[in-house]
Amino acid sequence: MPAQAVEVGNAADIAEGAVRVVTAGGTRLALCKYRGQLYAIDDVCTHDGGALGQGELIDNEIECPRHGARFDIRTGRPTCLPAVVPVRTYPVRVDDEGRIFVEVGS
Ligand code: FES
Repeated sequence: MPAQAVEVGNAADIAEGAVRVVTAGGTRLALCKYRGQLYAIDDVCTHDGGALGQGELIDNEIECPRHGARFDIRTGRPTCLPAVVPVRTYPVRVDDEGRIFVEVGS
C-alpha cells in the first residue's frame, strides 16, 4: 500500500507533554508532543498489546500503562523492560496553518 499523509488535528490543540490517540488510515496512533515537536508511534505496546496512548509521557519516553515498559518516541526503541521490540514510528509534518499530517501505509 502506498504511503499517504493523513490529517489528524491541529498542533495548537496539543499541549506540550501531552499524548493523544488518533486514527490515520485505519491505524491507531499515539501522537506525542515533546519540546514542541510532534511524534507518532503505534498505540500498541510490543510487549503485550498495552495501549501506549493511555501512557504517560516522561520527557522523550512514553511509559506503557500495563507493565511499565518505556519507549523513546523519537525512534520507537524500547528503553525499559519488559519490552524488547521497538514500536513503529511514523513521519509527522505540520503545515503553515498548523495542520498535522501523519504518513501511514508504507
Ligand atoms: S503491554 Fe506494555 S509493558 Fe506489557
